[in-house]
Amino acid sequence: MSNNILVTGGAGYIGSHIVRRLGEAGYNVTVYDNCSTGFAHSVLYGELIIGDLADIHHLYQVFAKHQFSAVIHLAARLVVPDSVMYPLDYYTNNTYNTINLLRCCSVMGVNQLIFSSTAAVYGNPQENPVTENTPTLPINPYGRSKLMSEAIIQDYAYASRLRYVILRYFNVGGADPAGRIGQNSHYASHLIASACNAVLKRQPELKIFGTDFPTPDGTGVRDYIHVEDLASAHIDSLCYLEQDGESQIFNCGYGEGYSVRQVVERIKAISGVDFPVINEARRLGDPACVTACAQKIKQVLNWQPKYNNLDDIISSSLAWEMSKLNRDNGVN
Ligand code: UD1
Repeated sequence: MSNNILVTGGAGYIGSHIVRRLGEAGYNVTVYDNCSTGFAHSVLYGELIIGDLADIHHLYQVFAKHQFSAVIHLAARLVVPDSVMYPLDYYTNNTYNTINLLRCCSVMGVNQLIFSSTAAVYGNPQENPVTENTPTLPINPYGRSKLMSEAIIQDYAYASRLRYVILRYFNVGGADPAGRIGQNSHYASHLIASACNAVLKRQPELKIFGTDFPTPDGTGVRDYIHVEDLASAHIDSLCYLEQDGESQIFNCGYGEGYSVRQVVERIKAISGVDFPVINEARRLGDPACVTACAQKIKQVLNWQPKYNNLDDIISSSLAWEMSKLNRDNGVN
């Protein structure tokens, strides 16, 4: 079997870290990305093909040329409030385009798939941490678009030789420890990136969206995972499928919840910058609290996270944002 791996969305924040790890491990990587939010310069290994999953004819050509042994599918839109405003874009990009990809896998006989799913499939869970068996009741189109994709993958796997690993990502932060790649989007909306922007005065303040959630300090609680540990989960999943492992769903988080206020406090302490913070109304589609039980991935894949510490995630994000700023200012 070839060791040619297709990574959709491999020019994006998480995808580029996975591509780097695959390249370091000796895989031949092909990245398929429309570069709507990804960047060619983030792809450190393999070949980048600029294309959209909506273009199934192009996708077929790519499959026909490379004979992939496995596909890692990340290409998607991922901003929760955005999904509430533009649901059709999310169902097209995330759900319909997953069908296109599966059609190519079907025609070309590719039978190993790793799918990037999300904690958003759990919605507002009754109890935390959530296990993979916790009921999935998404509360926004983003979560629903991913849950539908999960169901489609499972149904297709039942009817074919496909084996899959579905990884439900919790809140991803941090950057490549060697500082080569990180979050590049100009419109990064997630908490750690926004707070870094406030530290570096790219934005005047940090807004806290919602202070009346049923959580200890009234702000949203999330489980933050370092992008490098998330990339390891993909490599471990790939090895598992290569060794004939059966289809699985795994949570990817650490099992520790931090509120928005706690994250903001740590970013202020670590950076030494006391930026202004403003309390705002809740954002559309935000749950109060979601944290992961990660026992299953540790047991089945022997996944061993190395950066399971909020301060490490924040320091790594800050270091990356500072290096970007220095590059923008022409400082080496
Ligand atoms: C993130 C991911 C989503 C993933 C989910 C898993 C992104 C863009 N989204 O969504 O793909 O499925 O984690 O749980 O990475 N907040 C503020 N001020 C800000 C930004 C955020 O108060 O400026 C708050 C939010 O209201 C929320 C918390 O911080 O309570 C986390 O928000 P965010 O970082 O945007 O991630 P999620 O919406 O949880």
